[in-house]
Amino acid sequence: MKQYSWWQKGIIYQIYPRSYQDSNGDGIGDLAGIRQRLDYIQSLNVDAIWLSPIYPSPMHDFGYDVADYCEVNPIFGDMADLDALLEDIHARGLKLVLDLVPNHTSDEHRWFVESRSSRDNPKRDWYIWRDPAPDGGPPNNWVSFFGGPAWTYDERTGQYYLHQFVKQQPELNYRHPDVLPAMLDNMRFWLDKGIDGFRVDVIWLMLKDEQLRDEPLNPDWDGINPIGKLQHIYTQNLPGVHDIIRAMRAVLDEYDDRMMVGEIYLPNEDLVKYYGTRREDGSFDECHLPFNFQLLLLDWDARTVRDAVDAYEAALPQGAWPNWVLGNHDRHRVASRLGQAQARVANILLMTLRGTPTNYYGEEIGMENVPIPPEFIQDPPAVNQPEIAHIVGRDPERTPMQWDASPHAGFTEEAVIPWLPLPADYQTRNVRQQEEDPTSMLNLYRSLTKLRRSEPALAVGDYASVDAGAADVFAYQRTAPGANAFLIVLNFGEQSHTINLSEIATQAEVVIATGLKRSGTVSLNALELEANEGLVFRL
Ligand code: GLC
Repeated sequence: MKQYSWWQKGIIYQIYPRSYQDSNGDGIGDLAGIRQRLDYIQSLNVDAIWLSPIYPSPMHDFGYDVADYCEVNPIFGDMADLDALLEDIHARGLKLVLDLVPNHTSDEHRWFVESRSSRDNPKRDWYIWRDPAPDGGPPNNWVSFFGGPAWTYDERTGQYYLHQFVKQQPELNYRHPDVLPAMLDNMRFWLDKGIDGFRVDVIWLMLKDEQLRDEPLNPDWDGINPIGKLQHIYTQNLPGVHDIIRAMRAVLDEYDDRMMVGEIYLPNEDLVKYYGTRREDGSFDECHLPFNFQLLLLDWDARTVRDAVDAYEAALPQGAWPNWVLGNHDRHRVASRLGQAQARVANILLMTLRGTPTNYYGEEIGMENVPIPPEFIQDPPAVNQPEIAHIVGRDPERTPMQWDASPHAGFTEEAVIPWLPLPADYQTRNVRQQEEDPTSMLNLYRSLTKLRRSEPALAVGDYASVDAGAADVFAYQRTAPGANAFLIVLNFGEQSHTINLSEIATQAEVVIATGLKRSGTVSLNALELEANEGLVFRL
C-alpha cells in the first residue's frame, strides 16, 4: 500500500502557548506547562502539536511580533525547556510544528532597529520605507488589518514604513536580495534542532506591489470591518510570492520528512496554487498544506458545506493533499458559532473528511468564546476598534484551557490572576468532568480520532458525497482498497429526518454517534436521524 507521511495521515493540534498550562505562577502558559500535559495530548490521538509563536517578543500582537527568530521568550521558558519539550514529544512519536512569522518582525528586532536608524543604513531597505505623499500623509491608501492606515511615520528619518498589522510589526521587503536568505537561515536553525515543520504566518501577503499603487475600493464591502473596504490586489497573493515559497520549501526539502503549512485566506482557484508545481516524484514544490479555512467561514448548512467540500475536492490538483480547519486563535470558537450540538457534528465532519484535520486546543471539550470585561481586552484589533471589538477581538477564543473545577480551572495557581479570564461555567465544562462523562464531547473526540487512526479509509481513503434526500443532511462515503468502508451521515438541522440510503447498502453498523449512545446494525432504507445527529457507519 502507498506510504503516507505524518502530515497526511495525522491530526494537527494547535496550542496557544500563553493559554495552555502555566507552570511558574505568572498567569501565562509556558513550555514546561505544555510538557506537563503531554499525557493528555497523547490521549487525544493527535499526531502533531503546532505552537503559536514562542519567540522573544514585546507581545504587541502576542508573539506574532518576533524580536528574535532563534530564541525562546523568557515568558515561555528557555531553549533548554524547548529542547526538553521537543525530546519528550519525539519520544512519544509525536511531531512539533513551530509558527514562523516571516512577513514582518517586531520593531524591536535588531534588523528593524538598524533599518530605522538612518536612511543609509545597510538594512534600510530590508523594510518598506517611503517618503510621505505630497500632503505629508501616508504614501498610499493601504490599510492595516487591525484598523487605520498601513503606514507609520518615523520622525527620525522622515519616512513612513509599512505594516499591515500593528505599527510594531514592520513588514520585511522580500524584494531586497538579502532578506529571504536571512529568513531561510532562521528556518534552518530550527530544522537543525529537529523541529518537524512550520506553520507559516500570512504567507500569501509576503510580497507587495513594487510601485505601491493605491488599492481600488471594494464595491461588495459589508461596511463592518475596514480591512474589507479595499480590494487587496497590491498587498495579497502577488504572483511573485510563489518564488519565495518555493525557496522556503527547498530548505525544508534539505531535511527528511518536514512540513510547511501556509496561512492563506483565498478562494479555491488561488489557494491551490500554493501547492506549487507537481514534481516527478509526485510531491509539490511549495506548501505541503495550504490551510483550507472554509469550515471557519461558511454558513453552516448541509447544502453549503457539501457544495464547499465537493468544490474543494474538485479544485485540488491531482495528488495534492487536502486539509481542513475548524478553529484557530483568530476566529471565534466553533462551539459558540454553531452551538454545542452542532459543534459535535462539526467534530465528526472534521475527523472524517479527506485531508489533514487541524484543530484548536479546547475544541475537544467544546470550549466557547469567553466574554471579556472591557478592562481585560488586550487584542490589538479590539483595542484599536472598540466599536467592532465584539467582531474582530480575538481574546474570547484565546482564554486558558479548562482542565478541572479547581480555581482558574487548573491553568494556574489559585493566588494568580490568569492573563485572560476563565468563563463562568468552567466548573462544568472541563477536561476532568468530561473524562468522567461517557457521553461528553471529549469522549466523542477521542473515539473519532482513535477510529480515524485505525481505519485507512478514514485516514487516507477516497471521498464521495452521497445524495441523502433531505436538505438538512450531508452524507458521504470514505473508501480505501482492501479496507473497511465508511458512511457518514450528518444532520445539520434542528429537525429529525427519516432518510433512505439503501442504494449504498441495506444495513450498516453504527460505530460512532454524536450522542455516543446509539450503536448496532441499522437498516439504511428508513434511517432515523435525530435533530443535530451525526452518525459514522462501517459498511
Ligand atoms: C496571522 C496570525 C494572527 C496575527 C497576524 C499577524 O493572521 O494568525 O494571529 O495577528 O497573522 O501576524
